[in-house]
Amino acid sequence: MKIGDTPFRTIWPDRDGPSVHVIDQRALPHRFVVATLRSWQEAATAIRDMTVRGAPLIGATGAYGLALAMQADPSDAALAESFQHLLGTRPTAVNLRWGLERMRRLLQPLRPDQRRDAAYAEAAAIADDDVAVCSALGQHGADLIAQAWTDAGRSRPINVLTHCNAGWLATVDWGTALAPIYKAHRAGVPVHVWVDETRPRNQGASLTAYELAAEGVPHTIVVDNVGGHLMQHGSVDLCIVGTDRTTRTGDVCNKIGTYLKALAAHDNGVPFYVALPSSTVDWHMRDGVREIPIEEREAAEVTHMTGETEAGDIATVRVTPKGSPALNYGFDVTPARLVTGLITERGLCEASEAGLLSLFPQAAAA
Ligand code: MRU
Repeated sequence: MKIGDTPFRTIWPDRDGPSVHVIDQRALPHRFVVATLRSWQEAATAIRDMTVRGAPLIGATGAYGLALAMQADPSDAALAESFQHLLGTRPTAVNLRWGLERMRRLLQPLRPDQRRDAAYAEAAAIADDDVAVCSALGQHGADLIAQAWTDAGRSRPINVLTHCNAGWLATVDWGTALAPIYKAHRAGVPVHVWVDETRPRNQGASLTAYELAAEGVPHTIVVDNVGGHLMQHGSVDLCIVGTDRTTRTGDVCNKIGTYLKALAAHDNGVPFYVALPSSTVDWHMRDGVREIPIEEREAAEVTHMTGETEAGDIATVRVTPKGSPALNYGFDVTPARLVTGLITERGLCEASEAGLLSLFPQAAAA
């Protein structure tokens, strides 16, 4: 996607050296900052402190992290150490494990002197694959939005509610939940997006709104508790969200608060879709609520908020009484029964084992 007139991906290798560049998402929407990762340790820190975030982008950053590790030391011991450390940076998004395992499968059988170039090539392939997959699922989702527009008599914009940021900033390009919106918008289908602010880190208010504004997509930011009210009043045609891990049975783990939106959608007969690359399916898990590890982050993300002052400075302020404890779960699980359908790179399917296997039959044995 473009920032101004310049096309950007969220991660790219340096043209002349071994380092890797990323967009520092902590600075958005107020500043556009490019950060440089020079070692696997810096890649690990970037994932943990959310310089980069979003399930597919975490996977690509993990892959480039292993390339940086092979650049410094291509030994078996360095491969094992960097793999374990990168894997431990964030627990919920399965794309991290997926990206690291794809890299290790390729690198382990190679001689150490062959690993550096192979690692950079494979990390680049992972990034390119993500772009192609998100573009493909975006087209399938755009068809859904176009159909909703036809069903509405082509008389008004289609209102889509989304939660968190599952746009191009969360992937290498295009996004998951936002890719259908971008494709529909570019095809001339009028779309308006309700953007959940997504406390505590405000990925919706900061990142989704930033992306949609850059692409010229009409949108309105709402606080997290508004969705149910909007749905009761017929102001939402469909919900589309992303996911950090989807079980083989179709349970969906996404940013905290997604489950409540799915409940409200179910109660109001609003279709609730989840857009995902197949790298987000954990074929080894069946029961999302009991099996998916849920990240718990620092209480400071709840007790404090960061923003830009009228004077243009970035400031962090406390919004809670000193001494009141706070709890900060990053994700929740929406059971498959509340999901209308999954939008994947191979098309739409039911959120169920049969639905997923109808599109990805090779996973039957996993
Ligand atoms: O904690 P984050 O910002 O990494 O969480 C991201 C999300 O929950 C996204 O919705 C998810 O990764 C799907 S992204 C394409």
